[in-house]
Amino acid sequence: MVSYKKLGLVNTKKMFAKAIKGGYAIPAFNFNTMEQMQAIVQAAVETKSPVIMQVSKGARKYANPTILRYMAEGAVAYAKELGCKKPQIVLHLDHGDSYETCKSCIDTGFSSVMIDGSSLPFKENIKLTKKVVNYAHKHDVTVEAELGVLAGVEDEVSAAESHYTKPEEVVEFATKTGCDSLAISIGTSHGAYKFTPAQCTRDPKTGKLIPPPLAFDVLKAIEKKLPGFPIVLHGSSSVPQDEVDTINKYGGKLPDAVGIPEEQLRKAAKSAVCKINIDSDSRLAMTAAIRKHLAENPGHFDPRQYLTPARESMKKMYIHKILKVLGSNNKL
Ligand code: G3H
Ligand code: 13P
Ligand code: ZN
Repeated sequence: MVSYKKLGLVNTKKMFAKAIKGGYAIPAFNFNTMEQMQAIVQAAVETKSPVIMQVSKGARKYANPTILRYMAEGAVAYAKELGCKKPQIVLHLDHGDSYETCKSCIDTGFSSVMIDGSSLPFKENIKLTKKVVNYAHKHDVTVEAELGVLAGVEDEVSAAESHYTKPEEVVEFATKTGCDSLAISIGTSHGAYKFTPAQCTRDPKTGKLIPPPLAFDVLKAIEKKLPGFPIVLHGSSSVPQDEVDTINKYGGKLPDAVGIPEEQLRKAAKSAVCKINIDSDSRLAMTAAIRKHLAENPGHFDPRQYLTPARESMKKMYIHKILKVLGSNNKL
């Protein structure tokens, strides 16, 4: 058993309470590679922001669970080396799909886990979530649960259609499970194609897609039922058009990619939404920078040559999110 406290990590409890009170949201960035980890830590240190570094099932498969755990431990040491005396870094399991996976993460140093029972019937979701909560709380690890289904096309948590969270279910769910935060479905979805062109309108001037608004009425109804309870938004990448354009310009093919407009996330961050998940925007920033670099420097073959601008571009994106969207800067 490795306690996250020994590794210098923190759980989400105080972090979320402070964020709700302060009207901002904590960034939850997924990481799979060393460059992402470095960019996340540099961005968090430079902006004095708490940060959640999250690991998906796909990341565990790609990078190896042990390596990711040591990278998070290294992240704390790296933040200190960069001059942050008391970094607030959470190591979180994203979309945990079983009790066993959650337990294994808790036993190896994660400070927070998500048990994603959103595809299960209501009662089974409660049962599984409660089992994870019982184990996690023995070790002071916080638990994120999910009610409602997000659509998604690109990752391991995909569903064809989204179903908004039912506000009338949240009190029973939160009370019976004892979860620490709740991921809800209000129209966000995973990946770079969050809406089909048919669901959007087109800007007559630019021809760009304008997505439909998030269901803030559902969020409001949930907040009313669970005042002050930490709410999480998955699928919150904005899919910046300039990154998509760069990718397409240099040989990529991402037609009609569309994300959540930043002003909607800004509005959400001021509410009980205190954790906002961003993964796809990091993938886009990295891919755009690499494609551009290699197109402009066809003779380069040292990965450090193209991963340096990729890391810089991700860092810029993370800082932008913290300063201009989530408002989590200067909160350490
Ligand atoms: O919620 C999904 C995250 O973007 C992780 O995606 O399972 O492809 O690593 P992944
Ligand atoms: P995006 O695909 O919108 O970045 O969402 C990431 C996410 O929800 C991770 O759990
Ligand atoms: Zn997610």
